[in-house]
Amino acid sequence: MDLSNRTVLIVGGTSGIGRELAGRFTAAGSTVAVGGRSPEALSELAGEGFGTFGVDVTDSASVASFRDAVLARYPELDTVVTMSGVMLLEDLRDPAHFEAAETTIDTNLLGTIRAIDAFTPHLIRRGAGTFVTVTSGIAFLPFPPMPSYAASKAAVHAYSEALRAQLDGTGVGVVELVPPAVATAGQEKVNPHALPLDDFATEVMDLLSENPTPHEILVKGVLMHRWAERDGTYDDLVARRSQALAMLPGREG
Ligand SMILES: NC(=O)c1ccc[n+]([C@@H]2O[C@H](COP(=O)([O-])OP(=O)(O)OC[C@H]3O[C@@H](n4cnc5c(N)ncnc54)[C@H](OP(=O)(O)O)[C@@H]3O)[C@@H](O)[C@H]2O)c1
Repeated sequence: MDLSNRTVLIVGGTSGIGRELAGRFTAAGSTVAVGGRSPEALSELAGEGFGTFGVDVTDSASVASFRDAVLARYPELDTVVTMSGVMLLEDLRDPAHFEAAETTIDTNLLGTIRAIDAFTPHLIRRGAGTFVTVTSGIAFLPFPPMPSYAASKAAVHAYSEALRAQLDGTGVGVVELVPPAVATAGQEKVNPHALPLDDFATEVMDLLSENPTPHEILVKGVLMHRWAERDGTYDDLVARRSQALAMLPGREG
């Protein structure tokens, strides 16, 4: 993918990975707009020259007006990154976890579907474009303290595969970004060994610029998760990652 002349929308670009990639796409020469809920972050980003749009991906009406505003300002939009996501810990022994499960599925899975549905007709009409969906190494190798998160990301992986097949022949491609643990504010509490954001973004931009763009953007640090089942390391790695259950409040491990 030529990253020097695209018009990119990052849904969930107000912090973390999305915000970093917004800067990287701009540095590569593309025009970038970002969406998210935080008014403070949106106003900072507007000050940095990004197109900014408020959106809550859990709210269909909000996504519809967001789409209208984005396409009015960027009729040439050709790349939509569905980055919005929450990463919540859940203790499945406590039924009170359900609220976190609902938020997770509504944001990570249904939010992704809402954002994709909003822009699919536009990209098909253009006859060219790319959706970049965002899953996680955890889609392929569960991290037991975040069960609904793992389920949401495995679902977005499956959805991305089906979307790619359904859009075949329209000129619209689907690329799945599969981050390992990356040191953003959302991750610091969970994983002190997370990959530095800067290094991650550099590897991502290199992989995205390959021609043809790979269907999955797999930085080196995520290969052990992505291929654990194939490599026969899955059971051992899940057992090791289960030790992290000790981080749940009230658990000894
Ligand atoms: N960091 C990691 O280790 C890691 C690993 C694998 C996958 N990922 C995935 O990468 C993505 C970004 O993660 P991150 O670490 O950069 O987290 P982050 O800094 O918390 O960013 C999350 C983004 O999602 C947006 N968002 C959350 N709820 C939203 C909603 N209801 N409507 C619209 N936007 C919403 C946030 O914007 P507002 O708060 O402004 O709405 C923010 O821009 C997520 O999908 C995450 O699951 C992260």
